[in-house]
Amino acid sequence: MAIQKVGLVGCGLMGSGIAQVAAQSGFDVVVREVSPELVDKGLKGIEKNLARLVEKGTLTGEQRDQARARLRGTTRLEDLADRDLIVEAIIEQLPAKIELYGALDKLCGPATIFASNTSSISITEMAAATKRPGRFVGLHFFNPVPVMKLVEVIRTIATEESVFEEMVAFGQRLGKTTVRTSDRTGFIVNRLLVPYLLDAIRALEEGVGSIVDIDNSMKLGCGYPMGPLTLLDFVGLDTTYYIANIMFDEFKERRFAPPALLKRMVLAGWNGRKAGRGFYDYADPQNPKPMKF
Ligand code: CAA
Repeated sequence: MAIQKVGLVGCGLMGSGIAQVAAQSGFDVVVREVSPELVDKGLKGIEKNLARLVEKGTLTGEQRDQARARLRGTTRLEDLADRDLIVEAIIEQLPAKIELYGALDKLCGPATIFASNTSSISITEMAAATKRPGRFVGLHFFNPVPVMKLVEVIRTIATEESVFEEMVAFGQRLGKTTVRTSDRTGFIVNRLLVPYLLDAIRALEEGVGSIVDIDNSMKLGCGYPMGPLTLLDFVGLDTTYYIANIMFDEFKERRFAPPALLKRMVLAGWNGRKAGRGFYDYADPQNPKPMKF
């Protein structure tokens, strides 16, 4: 069965990015959010992104209109009942995800594939909340979704071979490069990225270098598009703290343990760019200033 109808649960930063890319790639897409305001906010964000692509000449006006026409918003979970594939990108909290999957499992036909965009929660544990563990995978996208070329396709020990291959093909139909991985917390990217980001915070705590010097070192010395502290602000300190805790629980290794400074910043609400403050102050978003600790 080739996927045609895609459902997105969650139309925040990741969900709206995935919905946009799926609609641009020719899929019929329904996005579900919990309130009309959030549906509207998500769809407006997508429209803004599509308009920017037209301005840059990446998309024609006709392609933008076609992509937009393939997208529908809803607050009703029932509107996802006829989907071939449902991609979930809601809050990173296991109880919320389990409740959602339990409800979707009752609504959708047995052929529907479920895919979670989680970066760290066990796919197996979510799949076990349904009667379709064979048709359950992880599809992990990266922020900003329209720009980042990678999708991690994650299988559990219960995922059917044909479903896994179909999800690899789906990632490719979105124009992404896919990598195959198994359900080990953090998968490939965060297994390598999270210790690196945490080490940058430890380097700052230990006075190895200033915020700007640590960022410039990796940007200019290693050719990374962003320094690690800028990237932490971009990803969100709360998100990183959450992922690090899950990885530490799983592996019990110091390299995944969140440094005290990260915890203090999250407690203070300095969650990065979205909060206006993290390792940098974004009062002037075009010209972030390093914070003093
Ligand atoms: N949405 C859509 N397009 C965007 C965008 C967004 N939010 N932000 C930037 N772009 C586009 C720009 O329009 C521009 O497109 P063109 O080249 O066609 O003009 C292109 O991306 C480059 O943008 P800029 O010139 O403004 O800035 P830049 O060169 O610094 O690139 C960046 C911005 C792509 C974000 C780059 O800095 C980058 O790759 N940073 C690293 C991002 C990263 O590591 N993401 C993964 C985070 S980890 C994660 O997501 C998973 C997890 O589990 C934690």
